[in-house]
Amino acid sequence: MNRESVNKSNLKFQNLKIAGKSSLSGQINISGAKNSALVLLAASLLTEEEVFIDNIPNLTDIQKMKNILKTLGVKIFKENNNLVINSKDLKVCELPYKLVNSLRASFFCIGALLARNGEASLALPGGCKIGKRPIHEHIKGLRALGAKIHIKNGFVNAKVDNKCKRLIGSNISLECPSVGATETLIMAATLAEGETIINNAAREPEIQDLCQMLNKMGAKINGAGESTIIICGVERLNGCSHKVIPDRIEAGTFLIAAAATLSSITISPVIPQHLESVLTKLRESGSDLIIKKDSITIKTKYIKSTDIETAPFPGFPTDLQAPFTSLMAIADGDSKITETIFENRMSHISLLNEMGASIETKNNVAFVKGVKELNGAKLLGLDLRSTAAIVIAALAANSQSKIGGLEHLDRGYDNFESKLNILGANIIRESSNDFFLESKIIMKNSICNSKDFQAA
Ligand code: EPZ
Repeated sequence: MNRESVNKSNLKFQNLKIAGKSSLSGQINISGAKNSALVLLAASLLTEEEVFIDNIPNLTDIQKMKNILKTLGVKIFKENNNLVINSKDLKVCELPYKLVNSLRASFFCIGALLARNGEASLALPGGCKIGKRPIHEHIKGLRALGAKIHIKNGFVNAKVDNKCKRLIGSNISLECPSVGATETLIMAATLAEGETIINNAAREPEIQDLCQMLNKMGAKINGAGESTIIICGVERLNGCSHKVIPDRIEAGTFLIAAAATLSSITISPVIPQHLESVLTKLRESGSDLIIKKDSITIKTKYIKSTDIETAPFPGFPTDLQAPFTSLMAIADGDSKITETIFENRMSHISLLNEMGASIETKNNVAFVKGVKELNGAKLLGLDLRSTAAIVIAALAANSQSKIGGLEHLDRGYDNFESKLNILGANIIRESSNDFFLESKIIMKNSICNSKDFQAA
């Protein structure tokens, strides 16, 4: 039963029934990158002409972003494989907490709205389960570009009130290479007067994809993918056609699922350069890889333990830390998993321990003692990537599992279980109210047992 046949509105009461001891084979298609598509949709606000974006993934986060843009008066429709965004009639209005909090990435619209309308009013995005997710780098950078910003009653009210009603280029240094702040400031600077330099900019592939689309629209951006990005402001931007890059995190998730089940699969399209740090760690942990221009084949007969430490791109991506921990849980030997990006991204540890893993955590470091096998269990995923991690563990486990938390999973993986079933997994998406209650009890017990777990 795939997602289409199950009513999407009650994702909280759905679970995946997953047969253990899966063996995967064959090839699957990687969808467009969630974390690129979201920011490309925000960037479409920068022009009153039509923007055509191809390869947009089918995700609940994308649906939320489309709804947010429609609230702003943007027209969105499908044309063949393209999403067409027309923000000619862009309204000046508040983005309420309910919308911003439903999708943190909506806050990235602030830079485009300021550049286009000269003002923006958005609710402060809250933290989430993985961390506080502050936005001071966004605010500091926009102020450097001349925006007057007041934060009051949970709202960020921003205005360009100089006589030319235009942001002014500036030399900005980020304290940390924040992906979102880099994207917000690039979008704001494209229409500013003069030159903007962003130092200590994030280097993620999604930022390179954003700059590629903006340059097609007539922006003048150099240095995308480097730590220093230079933007020469222009008067206006035009429409364009652009195709979203393949999702490197989805690609990595499937490679790790294949490794954990001692399988051999091929994934494409993929840009191998976007996954170098992950491919290195998969080789270190015993997998053989055949890398071609836009496909990767993995073959795993044995899983060796290895250590990882997350870091900004090109380091090991924080979004694959949880899935990789599932692999290390059944590796031969001990490993150390260090999360350096987010302060609370270890919620999968107590869930893996429920399945028989042997993992201790201390201050965002997981000390993993590889075990021979995991046991199937009924578990509730707590965030997007931890839910993907326990699905991987369930595929490798010695018996059936039921995994809930699909409202998280469907945010970031396009038809996840359908793609796994194409590879030979046996996963059924089912609706069951009692699962939700039962798994809550399991979660409550495991939270009480695991000393380091703080539900954020
Ligand atoms: C983006 O989030 C991604 N989301 C995240 O993916 C990803 O994990 C993250 O980048 C890091 O790669 C989208 O692109 C929609 P950050 P973002 O600002 O931009 C601190 C997923 O699973 N920070 O680079 O919010 C912050 O607290 C999601 O797909 C400040 O201190 O991440 C964090 O510790 C999760 N001040 C670190 O920087 C700021 O003003 C990285 O955050 C901003 C951020």
